[in-house]
Amino acid sequence: METALKIEHLNKTLGKKQILHDVSFETYKGEVFGFLGPNGAGKTTTIKIAVGMLFLDEGEISICGVDIKKNFEDAMSLVGGIVENPEMYKELSGMDNLKQYARMRKGVDQERIDRVVEIVGLSNRINDKVKKYSLGMRQRLGVAQAILHRPEVLILDEPTNGLDPAGIKGLRNVLIRIAHEENCSVIVSSHLMSEMELMCDRVGIIANGKMLAIKQIDEFKEEAFGNSLKYSVVTADNDKAMQLITSKFDVEAKLSGDGIKVEVSIPKESDVKISGINRALIEDGIDIETVVQEESRSLEDAFIQLTAQEGGNQIA
Ligand SMILES: Nc1ncnc2c1ncn2[C@@H]1O[C@H](COP(=O)(O)OP(=O)(O)OP(=O)(O)O)[C@@H](O)[C@H]1O
Ligand SMILES: [Mg+2]
Repeated sequence: METALKIEHLNKTLGKKQILHDVSFETYKGEVFGFLGPNGAGKTTTIKIAVGMLFLDEGEISICGVDIKKNFEDAMSLVGGIVENPEMYKELSGMDNLKQYARMRKGVDQERIDRVVEIVGLSNRINDKVKKYSLGMRQRLGVAQAILHRPEVLILDEPTNGLDPAGIKGLRNVLIRIAHEENCSVIVSSHLMSEMELMCDRVGIIANGKMLAIKQIDEFKEEAFGNSLKYSVVTADNDKAMQLITSKFDVEAKLSGDGIKVEVSIPKESDVKISGINRALIEDGIDIETVVQEESRSLEDAFIQLTAQEGGNQIA
């Protein structure tokens, strides 16, 4: 894997307060990296330093080996980013906005503009005025602007803020495409693990200005769920269901929530499948109301627990 952004021992003090404490991490080309942390953790501060909006006073940052202290302009030419709202001319079309922007960048021809428009999924609306765009479309036009010059690293600070679920999904797919098709290192900050889970290959967790963990999303899952898959099963007769499950299958099952559901825990290496348990319940005449895998919630819980340990930053 090729390193794209490399941050080493970053410290930052604003006013009298030390905001970042020895922050280090690296990202790779072709991956989506999630920069996850509760409000006030230091995400925006770190990102602003990496995109050159805040001064780097202690630590090292390089982009594809180019040091931002020694070679600021060259390093910045390898980065695209959206930290605050991207500037756009609302009276102009999306295309005219991109053409304006392309003039300020080297080597961006019409072919590149058309390609980028296709990647961000705006081909059929690109000639409409930006004032007619939804927030999700504006955000994708911002991403188009940010990648016109083929950056090696694309950094977006909380890009899904304010978007509805369809907008979030659209943006997510665009970012995954950019990572894969442009071999770009895409970095996205967020305060929601559930959002990172769907989009990122790896996640770095920051709280109170310190990096707490950097892992593959699957590793977080394994830790959060342990070595078993957990399900909540609600049936017409939970008592009977629980007894049937524990007598027929080598899994753990217990009543919870005052008996309103059965919690079933199936070891990962087990041959038992939830579908098999389903079938057995039905065959025994127990009506099933719902079966829910307790996944994303406990991943979010694991994140909250991890960040709360680090000085009690609260998550709204
Ligand atoms: N100019 C400044 N002067 C002093 N403190 C600042 C300044 N800018 C930010 N901070 C503080 O730095 C800490 C980190 O802020 P930062 O904006 O980087 O967090 P964040 O992770 O982006 O949070 P959020 O999820 O709310 O966007 C916060 O405690 C904030 O109050
Ligand atoms: Mg922020």
